Amino acid sequence: MQEFITFNEIDTIKLGEKTARLLKPGDIIALEGDLGTGKTVFVKGVAMGLEIGEHVTSPTFNIVHSYESNSVTLHHFDVYRVNDEDDLFEIGFEEYLYKGDICIIEWADLIKNMLPDNTIWIKLQRTDDNPEQRIITIRGLESI
Ligand SMILES: Nc1ncnc2c1ncn2[C@@H]1O[C@H](COP(=O)(O)OP(=O)(O)O)[C@@H](O)[C@H]1O
Ligand SMILES: [Mg+2]
Repeated sequence: MQEFITFNEIDTIKLGEKTARLLKPGDIIALEGDLGTGKTVFVKGVAMGLEIGEHVTSPTFNIVHSYESNSVTLHHFDVYRVNDEDDLFEIGFEEYLYKGDICIIEWADLIKNMLPDNTIWIKLQRTDDNPEQRIITIRGLESI
């Protein structure tokens, strides 16, 4: 497990970029953390690190947004509003996971049992010290 502290949004974007450089096609990244902890901000960094030029926006209402770079496709999910596994079945969730693209899932703790054992788990937490400080722990990824 690796632990990082970020002090503002830019730090979290940079950590996302560094994380992206270690990702391989087929990797699944599960993000957990309360509302406003920076999950979408982190995904922006990952997209930048993957050289995706498009602007990343929260897919809360669509469940998934897909982005392409020259070399890789990133599927960005937010499963906060998913009621049950049927909602995910409807969008073909499992097929996305096993296409050989990169998947990153906000609120992944809500669907833990649908994710494989080799999922990379990233948790974002606020601290009492500073409203812009976050503790970000990463499990299942080589050293950043
Ligand atoms: N260290 C930090 N890392 C990420 N975001 C931060 C940080 N400090 C403050 N913020 C702010 O917190 C908010 C995080 O929003 P967002 O990424 O949409 O959260 P989530 O997707 O987890 O609900 C943004 O407004 C961002 O500017
Ligand atoms: Mg979000």
